[in-house]
Amino acid sequence: MGRPLRDLRVSVTDRCNFRCRYCMPRERFGKEHKFLPKRNILSYEQIQKFVLACKPLGLGKVRITGGEPLLRRDLPKLVRQLSDLGLEIALTTNGSFLKREAESLAEAGLDRVTISLDAIDQDMHSRMTDSNVTVSDILEGIEEATSRGLGPVKVNCVVQRGVNESQIPKLVRQFRGTGVIVRFIEFMDVGGTNGWTPGQVVPTSEILDFLSKEFDLVPMMRDTPSDVASRWVHSDGSGEVGFISSVSQPFCGDCVRARLSSDGKLFTCLFTTLGHDMSELIRDGDDPSKLTEAIREVWTRRSDRYSEDRSSDAVSLPRVEMSYIGG
Ligand code: GTP
Ligand code: 5AD
Ligand code: SF4
Ligand code: SF4
Repeated sequence: MGRPLRDLRVSVTDRCNFRCRYCMPRERFGKEHKFLPKRNILSYEQIQKFVLACKPLGLGKVRITGGEPLLRRDLPKLVRQLSDLGLEIALTTNGSFLKREAESLAEAGLDRVTISLDAIDQDMHSRMTDSNVTVSDILEGIEEATSRGLGPVKVNCVVQRGVNESQIPKLVRQFRGTGVIVRFIEFMDVGGTNGWTPGQVVPTSEILDFLSKEFDLVPMMRDTPSDVASRWVHSDGSGEVGFISSVSQPFCGDCVRARLSSDGKLFTCLFTTLGHDMSELIRDGDDPSKLTEAIREVWTRRSDRYSEDRSSDAVSLPRVEMSYIGG
């Protein structure tokens, strides 16, 4: 059946309290923007039903994303429902509610958390996220997550040339020796709002060259070929730094990731135009094997390798927004 569906990313809301310039610029996601109506949003029971239906296809890990997933009421309840299925459960968040929520998430069975943090300097963070959330609140949230056992905690930093390169060594210094893994992500052409140009991408090789002036980093093996990050460690054992080189070294060949939007559409690639609407089958179907078969049908037909085809004409269609299907 080709690639297994090992990793499912579930977006629980298309809303976010940040307005990152590259993801939800306020002029496009302002008061007039129509977010998904509440009636279309899957309930936690419906999400659990979908996740259960993916299990026979090889599912091992669920990542809860958004928008900002902690905007959804009582998220620990969903975590509990999913961890009861015997899967690894991770969460990607912007960190603004983490200090408050880490304890109940951990108690509900969350395994790991990843925090998006593109800048450590307050001014730059405020500008990039167009929000009033303080970096110190996010850092406290990260500490709380670490102490509640939600590790290894990862911090994701999307690097954009001319915007936040100055934050790269600062982030490495900040988290060295804390057990937190910082990962630098090449800025990608997802969605249709971020005005991406190739010139805005800082390739991993350049970041590594730059960091090697201050740090002695040595490469580590990836755990599995489908891992998105290449892993490096400080030679003195003081921690790990990762790189997600989705533009300079695409990793489609081993991609085992599917995405479910909060209104029940299944996406077989981060860069697709159309999702496969599963909401009716999820809502009405009483035979779980029918849902499994429908997912299998979509998944086995997939041939996505967007990042490897980036320069061809076939990839110029409009794409869904990252805030809608999660990262
Ligand atoms: P863990 O291994 O469970 O920690 O998660 P992960 O490595 O899948 O990492 P995470 O979910 O934090 O993904 C990090 C970033 O990598 C995402 O935010 C995306 O920017 C990028 N990414 C993840 N999956 C894909 C993918 O399938 N394709 C592409 N092109 N980029 C991806
Ligand atoms: N390129 C790379 N990563 C992105 N993310 C959002 N938009 C982009 C983009 N254009 C990241 C977020 C977060 C994760 C969900 O995806 O910063 O870490
Ligand atoms: Fe920023 Fe993530 Fe919210 Fe997008 S979903 S605006 S990247 S915090
Ligand atoms: Fe998978 Fe699509 Fe990302 Fe390639 S571009 S790794 S196929 S999600």
